[in-house]
Amino acid sequence: MNTIQLLGCGYAHPKQHIDNHYLESIIDTSDEWIVQRTGIHARYVATTETTSLLAAEAAQKAIEDAKIDKKDISLLIVATLTGDQPMPSTACLVQEQLGMMDQRLMAFDINAACSGFLYSLQCACAMLKENECALVIGAENLSKIIDWSDRGTCILFGDGAGAAIIRKSAQGKNVWHFAQSKGDPKRVLDIPGKTLSDQPCVNVDEAYRYLSMDGKEVFRFAVGAMEEAIHQVLEQSPWDLEAIDLIIPHQANVRILANVARHMKLSMDRFYVNLDRFGNTSAASVPIALAQAKAEGRLHEGMKIILVGFGGGLTYAASLMEL
Ligand code: UT7
Repeated sequence: MNTIQLLGCGYAHPKQHIDNHYLESIIDTSDEWIVQRTGIHARYVATTETTSLLAAEAAQKAIEDAKIDKKDISLLIVATLTGDQPMPSTACLVQEQLGMMDQRLMAFDINAACSGFLYSLQCACAMLKENECALVIGAENLSKIIDWSDRGTCILFGDGAGAAIIRKSAQGKNVWHFAQSKGDPKRVLDIPGKTLSDQPCVNVDEAYRYLSMDGKEVFRFAVGAMEEAIHQVLEQSPWDLEAIDLIIPHQANVRILANVARHMKLSMDRFYVNLDRFGNTSAASVPIALAQAKAEGRLHEGMKIILVGFGGGLTYAASLMEL
């Protein structure tokens, strides 16, 4: 059993806040359609801000919130599917930007799409030794892999980063995790990578292409996956759903959350929701929501919270934390 302290959180977003009316000017859509089908009113979209820059800003705020010396951090994980470049990892770029090059630190990225922060949190909890701290970040620059002429996807996504500092400690509280990967044979959520060649030793167009999605299939998967992940962490713990004070879900679509709430006979105010202002920021969505909930005074000692998400892979995951 892991006993973990959640010491601090932070989040960051690009300067540009793009509302639905702006999208009306570039694609055939309407504010009314987007709000009714998704609950999203606006999202932050990066111009010059890189994934590592957003990640480092969120991390700096988390370090200040945790009131620790950054030298205490021995593990740095960045969950992302839109890292700055394939190599170095975004985690190593963040290490550099935070001026943490001269300390004993292991830094690497994890890609589990929108479940990435939860996968990273679970890995960090498993890897930490007693009294060690981890900086766990979810950061994305999704606007660079979105097809801005595809109204079925571009209205959903936004950019940003969220970060958390955890310490493994005997004074910590219990945490339970669940994570599952399923494969995606129908490619319902997909970003094709490099082009293959039937000739050896030739360079081919290696440009990454844009995200494609079967919205209805993803929607169906999301509702069942979130419900299952919540049940799975509860089953490991001594608690039932009634004992959970707040659920902080992946912020994909308010209708997905409403369906989960209806199936689980929960009222929507048990869920923290910020997708109206952020849209879906993939791996960044859960840690941004966690940091916002903390900054708004929604988290208190003794509370039990569930973080839950789903995404490309297909992946889904949840963590139940006592605060
Ligand atoms: O992190 C995981 C990422 N993905 C998700 O969470 C996505 C999950 N899925 C969804 O959120 C929803 O499926 C969407 C919001 C993407 C789409 O909502 P929907 O209710 O499944 O709509 P639809 O795709 O069935 O489209 C209904 C209609 C279609 O028109 P017709 O064929 O009925 O005439 C679409 O062409 O709405 C049209 N449409 C739009 N209209 C205005 C699709 N996108 C738009 C748009 N503006 N942006």
